Amino acid sequence: MAKARISVIGAGLMGHGIAQVFALAGHDVTIYDSVRASLDSAKSRILTNLKDLGEDERAVERVTPVAKLADAVGDADYVVEAVLEDLPLKQKLFGEIEPHVRSDTILASNTSVIPITAIMGGLEKRERALGTHWWNPPFLVPLVEVIATQWTSLDAIDWTIQLHAGAGKTPVHVKKDVPGFVGNRLQHALWRECVALVQNGICDAETVDKVIKASFGRRLAVLGPLENADLVGTDLTLAIHKTVLPDLDRTPGPSPYLEKLVADGKLGMKSGEGFRRWTPEQQAALRARVLQHLKAARDNEA
Ligand SMILES: NC(=O)c1ccc[n+]([C@@H]2O[C@H](COP(=O)([O-])OP(=O)(O)OC[C@H]3O[C@@H](n4cnc5c(N)ncnc54)[C@H](O)[C@@H]3O)[C@@H](O)[C@H]2O)c1
Repeated sequence: MAKARISVIGAGLMGHGIAQVFALAGHDVTIYDSVRASLDSAKSRILTNLKDLGEDERAVERVTPVAKLADAVGDADYVVEAVLEDLPLKQKLFGEIEPHVRSDTILASNTSVIPITAIMGGLEKRERALGTHWWNPPFLVPLVEVIATQWTSLDAIDWTIQLHAGAGKTPVHVKKDVPGFVGNRLQHALWRECVALVQNGICDAETVDKVIKASFGRRLAVLGPLENADLVGTDLTLAIHKTVLPDLDRTPGPSPYLEKLVADGKLGMKSGEGFRRWTPEQQAALRARVLQHLKAARDNEA
């Protein structure tokens, strides 16, 4: 794809990483954040990542922090927001962006689970609005879900898919705008059952994670569930579902066990305890292990 002018709104965990990916792919990127410290540190965080990943450090020169929203988006072919996961904030932001962009500038939200329809419904030109759901860290996890609303034009979807494929990502087209899209629906269907297993005393949290990591988790990166169903046979899959599905948790809302953890201040690593207790050393070791695993996966694919 030809060089494009990209504008990234929100320079936090996701925003600075998304800017980095587009800059590395040769695009010119402006980045905006309403918090000055976040904007001012964006380039140094990108540079640190590029050094750590062994990527071309000159890419950071294609990223321009801009202190005014209208200036950041004014020339853009493509605007993607990665501000906080807050519907009114995202709605207001796109309302502020639309008057400053061309009528064909594509507008994208990196929301994790909020329907794009709810975020973009108030826009004047809704055919150029869509979702692009990246995964953390954006420069190491390949998938980007490109989500269409009922209004999104196929041209906007195609262009966005090409943009991300050209930047080395793995874009997929999500044709209907449902909460959580595809990836987070699947992920949280699994998490619901994980919490239920602990809540119902079947096993402890450490065992849940061990079971996944030492079994089907090992295969998941190369064998998707539906490939697996075909591998073992749809007849066997049907027989398993007849026995297991009626027994799975189907609570429509969050589990009481999870609600209690939060009410008790057991917020996970940031408070030292969630489903399990975490020392600072254990937290650092886990984060390092995840990063090392993702880098090795990237290197294997190269
Ligand atoms: N963290 C993840 O793993 C992950 C993965 C996929 C998608 N997302 C989604 O990406 C978005 C950003 O998440 P994050 O983890 O990067 O959050 P973050 O808190 O690290 O960054 C958010 C940034 O937005 C800025 N901001 C807030 N209001 C703003 C405004 N009005 N204008 C400009 N900037 C503003 C904040 O100053 C902050 O720098 C959320 O919608 C989140 O759900 C997160």
